[in-house]
Amino acid sequence: MTDLTQRLAGRIALVTGGAGGQGAAHTERLAREGARVYCADVNATAGRETEERLRGLGLDVRFLVLDVSSLANWEEVAARIDAAEGRLDILVNNAGILADVHDAVNTTEAAWQRTIDINQKSIFLSYRTMIPLLRKSAHASVVNTSSIFGLVGASGYISYMASKGAVTLMTKSGAVTYAPEGIRVNSIHPGYIDTQMMRDEFAGLGEGVEEAVLATIPMGRFAGPEEIAPTVAFLASDDASYISGAEVLIDGALLAGR
Ligand SMILES: NC(=O)c1ccc[n+]([C@@H]2O[C@H](COP(=O)([O-])OP(=O)(O)OC[C@H]3O[C@@H](n4cnc5c(N)ncnc54)[C@H](O)[C@@H]3O)[C@@H](O)[C@H]2O)c1
Repeated sequence: MTDLTQRLAGRIALVTGGAGGQGAAHTERLAREGARVYCADVNATAGRETEERLRGLGLDVRFLVLDVSSLANWEEVAARIDAAEGRLDILVNNAGILADVHDAVNTTEAAWQRTIDINQKSIFLSYRTMIPLLRKSAHASVVNTSSIFGLVGASGYISYMASKGAVTLMTKSGAVTYAPEGIRVNSIHPGYIDTQMMRDEFAGLGEGVEEAVLATIPMGRFAGPEEIAPTVAFLASDDASYISGAEVLIDGALLAGR
């Protein structure tokens, strides 16, 4: 019987966008369950602060600089982890941006492209550079962060939805392609999670939006990042050994109906 509190003991994990928000929560949770976690982010200052805070708790967390839209950066991170560990067991593709809330008429080509590069192309680059390392693991699991907006539409948000919809199907592509090699790939679909991203979104949309969104959530509240991390740890663990290609909603019943 696995000790549930240490079910990831000995595992090597990489969490992108790990400096803050949900990524920092995932980093902490995986490390608390026994993994050595490479926490990677484009924001080096925040990343090093998170590394220091979590190492202060006795957790095995190592920060690496990574812009997930850069192939050269991914290759560098893969080389570092390969040299140090010789394999990767858990990949959490969490990094993402919500910088463009417009519809197609009002957005710009540059804003569209930036969202696609960071949210969508990053999944392709991660597979390209990390699958060779995951192949060396006996417990390989990939968790991709999509969104409720990778499953249903909303007014505006054309680039974000395009990118998160792609994450949903790139997950299934990965699941089917790499299943014969023992690599599982799943997607999580958070609803409204109280992070800097959600705060910036509401601030940009104006007064009353937060209350209006809250009124649509059957559970009547937003989630904290620490409510998403346990699902990531579960999917990363052998407890999810027959789960691959799944979409896991974590949304307070938002998409369940009304
Ligand atoms: N907050 C929500 O309500 C919500 C809902 C559904 C899905 N999501 C998704 O969850 C994920 C995490 O979001 P969050 O809420 O923690 O947001 P956040 O803005 O708090 O954190 C995002 C992290 O990603 C990093 N990042 C941004 N661009 C990067 C890049 N190019 N390379 C590497 N790191 C980069 C940031 O520095 C930051 O540390 C994202 O993919 C987001 O789209 C968020």
